[in-house]
Amino acid sequence: MKVIDLRSDTVTRPTPAMRQAMAEAEVGDDVFGEDPTVNALQARSAALLGKEAALFVPSGTMANQLAIRTHTEPGDEVIIEGSSHPFNYEGGATAALSGVQFFTLPGRRGILEASQIEAAIRPPDHHYPRTRLVCLENTHNRGGGSIFPLEKILEIAGVARDRGLALHLDGARLFNACVATGIKPAEYARHFDSVSFCLSKGLGAPVGSLLAGSAAFIDRAHRFRKMFGGGMRQAGILAAAGLYALDHHIERLEEDHRHARLLAQGLAGFPGVEVKPEEVETNMVFVRVTDRPAAELARALREQGVLLLATARDTIRCVTHLDVSEADIHDALARITEWLHHAG
Ligand SMILES: Cc1ncc(COP(=O)(O)O)c(C=O)c1O
Repeated sequence: MKVIDLRSDTVTRPTPAMRQAMAEAEVGDDVFGEDPTVNALQARSAALLGKEAALFVPSGTMANQLAIRTHTEPGDEVIIEGSSHPFNYEGGATAALSGVQFFTLPGRRGILEASQIEAAIRPPDHHYPRTRLVCLENTHNRGGGSIFPLEKILEIAGVARDRGLALHLDGARLFNACVATGIKPAEYARHFDSVSFCLSKGLGAPVGSLLAGSAAFIDRAHRFRKMFGGGMRQAGILAAAGLYALDHHIERLEEDHRHARLLAQGLAGFPGVEVKPEEVETNMVFVRVTDRPAAELARALREQGVLLLATARDTIRCVTHLDVSEADIHDALARITEWLHHAG
């Protein structure tokens, strides 16, 4: 029985063609700036986002943490949505590595309003931390793979500009938003001082993220990358997978979105779960489990070869990706139906 792994889009394995590109990559020592494939990926990523420069880093976490460290000084405050990745799922790195604190705001499916941000900015008084940075997430993971509307980004960027704040985008899944809306990556990126995106999620590469911004910003981030231990040597092997992913795996994200809609529509009729197919904007489906703990359902379905992630007591997340076909979605739905039938 084939295992259908819907826990995350990070579980994809490099395709044979991607592995071929990795094997053939020209490499050098990237700490000396001499890896031609890393340099090509950085230049390509900067161009794609309309930024002056970009830096290849091992993970999305490092990209976000470098951005925060680069934009701030210890004692500063960062405004961020309360279910965001950097606040919840990066091991408290911001406190440990940057010595700054978060001011969290409640979003609607991860989406913040400019007025909320405006109200959270501290007055210039020595009692207060200095508000320095706003971080947004697009697509928003815990928001349900939700897309940050461009007009809201514009309003927030206006507030940040007027109040002298830097603006960072955690674009781990930015290309999902681009494919779903038809908005170009640079159209999103132009409103931000820095943007990160991941190669290792929907794009299907095994490792790596990019951080982009002005040349001066990336120069400062480069120093912190060294400090955080993210300087890699013959990293061109990994960058080659990234270049391959940018060439071949962006447009196909639309398939993942279609599969997520199919899955949501299929699950919507099942007893014991609540799904809102109309809320599926990209490659994620969040399911509310109403008749048992979500972890129990995930455990039971694992035995049927369907892997899902319990993200809360009553919530399961399903993510579609490169290694899940339309047939797999139908198969997963059939196995779930079968199990529910027997479980009564
Ligand atoms: C929105 C978001 N940002 C950042 C990250 C961190 O990426 P990584 O796992 O490569 O550190 C993730 C990981 O899932 C994510 O979903």
